[in-house]
Amino acid sequence: MATVGLTDVRKTFGRTEVIHGIDLEIADGEFIVIVGPSGCGKSTLLRMVAGLETVSAGEVRIGERRVNEVEPMDRDIAMVFQNYALYPHMSVFDNMAYGLRIAGRPKAEIAERVRAAARMLQLEEYLDRRPRQLSGGQRQRVAMGRAIVRKPAVFLFDEPLSNLDAKLRVQMRLEIKALQRELGVTALYVTHDQVEAMTLADRMVVMNEGRAEQVGAPLEVYARPATMFVAGFIGSPPMNFLAPADLNGAAAPALLAALPPGTAAIGIRPEHLELVPADRAVLSGSARYTEALGAETLIHLARPEGQTLTMRIAGSPEGIAPDAPLHLAAAPATIRAFDREGRAIVPT
Ligand SMILES: Nc1ncnc2c1ncn2[C@@H]1O[C@H](COP(=O)(O)OP(=O)(O)OP(=O)(O)O)[C@@H](O)[C@H]1O
Ligand SMILES: [Mg+2]
Repeated sequence: MATVGLTDVRKTFGRTEVIHGIDLEIADGEFIVIVGPSGCGKSTLLRMVAGLETVSAGEVRIGERRVNEVEPMDRDIAMVFQNYALYPHMSVFDNMAYGLRIAGRPKAEIAERVRAAARMLQLEEYLDRRPRQLSGGQRQRVAMGRAIVRKPAVFLFDEPLSNLDAKLRVQMRLEIKALQRELGVTALYVTHDQVEAMTLADRMVVMNEGRAEQVGAPLEVYARPATMFVAGFIGSPPMNFLAPADLNGAAAPALLAALPPGTAAIGIRPEHLELVPADRAVLSGSARYTEALGAETLIHLARPEGQTLTMRIAGSPEGIAPDAPLHLAAAPATIRAFDREGRAIVPT
């Protein structure tokens, strides 16, 4: 087990800098999720920690040791990739044993470690099979097993679940979290899936165009996004954004007066919009269409100004007629204010 430290880490490909200086201190045993849209630099950052990419500037530490110049195999890390990268011609046992054999561990120890990992991952009855004779979820487990047997100080995951169907993803997500807890190994996990990030992370790093926009516990990031980018990326459906001038209900003047100076945009989560009598409304809209999901309903509202808003209510959409005018408000404490650069104005 180990801490991981990044100090002003940068990556340049040719003349293009794609990682613009990341600082991050990861505690021993912590589960960190790096989340962001495609191309924002998640894999590049992870690969620099793994040693698969050189670090153009800054420092990467594992434990107390600077590892910028240390070979991947000497960094005491294990990486699980999206495509699992299993050896097709080797049995499950041999796939899991491979790294230990390369490291020259004694045969008995290898057998013991592989069996222990297989037990943990419920792979014992598949040890003689080839990868192609396994389901996607089982292959995923073998890739996990191969990482576990090495007893690394740090696990690195790059979108390890994206090849699985939705149901299996949820199951494997829970298994990865449970395993990481049980083993107490520090983990860095890359995904573009904000649900994975929310559910797995002790802290998440929301990346955008090579920068860490916000680092924090999932619920803290959800409740207090530092920027409009984070507010729009974390949460599904995303936060609604409006200009102050869009507030047009009877109660709008009071709300406008309470907004902090410099407010260029306000953000309201779909679950914070509520139906109110006309005299308390800050906004109006009409239900364009509804998505009843059973436990909750998403109501997509059309506004006179042409934008759409999303509202989330518990239960079914009874009493909400299509195209009927609706009066909306949100508790002031739930409304986020952003400045012209899209940064949250705190406190709001
Ligand atoms: N070897 C390379 N040479 C040049 N540019 C690269 C190289 N590898 C990555 N890049 C660029 O660096 C940026 C970050 O890429 P990276 O693979 O880290 O993104 P990502 O966040 O992992 O995206 P995805 O979610 O699609 O996997 C992209 O603009 C990409 O085109
Ligand atoms: Mg990637």
